[in-house]
Amino acid sequence: MVPRLRLELEPGDALRAVCAEAADSPWILTRGADGVAELRDARAPRQRPLRIELAGAEVRRRIAQGRRGLLPRALGFRKPPWRVLDLTAGLGRDAATCAGLGMEVLAYERQPLLAALLAEAGERDAPQLRGALRIRAGSAGPAEWSSVDAVLYDPMYPTAAHGAAPSLELQRLRELVGEDADVAATFAALRAQPPARLAVKRPPRGARVELAPPDVAFDGGRVRWAVYLRPPEAH
Ligand SMILES: C[S@@+](CC[C@H](N)C(=O)[O-])C[C@H]1O[C@@H](n2cnc3c(N)ncnc32)[C@H](O)[C@@H]1O
Repeated sequence: MVPRLRLELEPGDALRAVCAEAADSPWILTRGADGVAELRDARAPRQRPLRIELAGAEVRRRIAQGRRGLLPRALGFRKPPWRVLDLTAGLGRDAATCAGLGMEVLAYERQPLLAALLAEAGERDAPQLRGALRIRAGSAGPAEWSSVDAVLYDPMYPTAAHGAAPSLELQRLRELVGEDADVAATFAALRAQPPARLAVKRPPRGARVELAPPDVAFDGGRVRWAVYLRPPEAH
């Protein structure tokens, strides 16, 4: 889905190529005084604009939790080198947290506007992260997920699957990019050619898109990671 937005951008701005102009959209894509792209919601002009910040306060807070955080534990991270494939980069926070902890991260995002925003943020912020963070537009396949230590999958579940409301930023992201209708199919592909370790982010409560019972689960207040390990015979 190409988001329909009001564009307040210079005529030659590269972001124009990855979205559709719609004068009636409540969303405005523009750049702040510092040149960073941001999405503003015209219905909530006082709300902080949505920006992709890979070295912002939220990511720094999660990096400060160190290896004991839920995400590094779900990914089996102990020390570098640890190669991680993020199938669903989104706002890039999980990927940036992993890179900030010293992992080598390759992150894919198929939504073209988000991928472009992530690429800009990566150039700006990735050098500040301890590990490596590479961002690619599109989707990864079995060739990529077979060759890493761990795979991270955090799709946008259909609204009804959320027991608890997702964060405000994810709700806004969902409005812009839509839900991921192919969760079951992607999960089936991951099970057919399993990576060494697969961590799937799940809503903690309520009706879930049931996938398969995990080998290990890591539960936090708002998030649950279901972890699937490659069976020895599949090596
Ligand atoms: C819930 S968001 C991910 C949030 C992310 N973990 C973060 O920390 O910001 C899901 C994102 O994954 C993308 N996505 C879902 N399935 C994908 C796939 N198979 N390949 C590439 N991108 C995918 C969606 O476009 C959406 O932007």
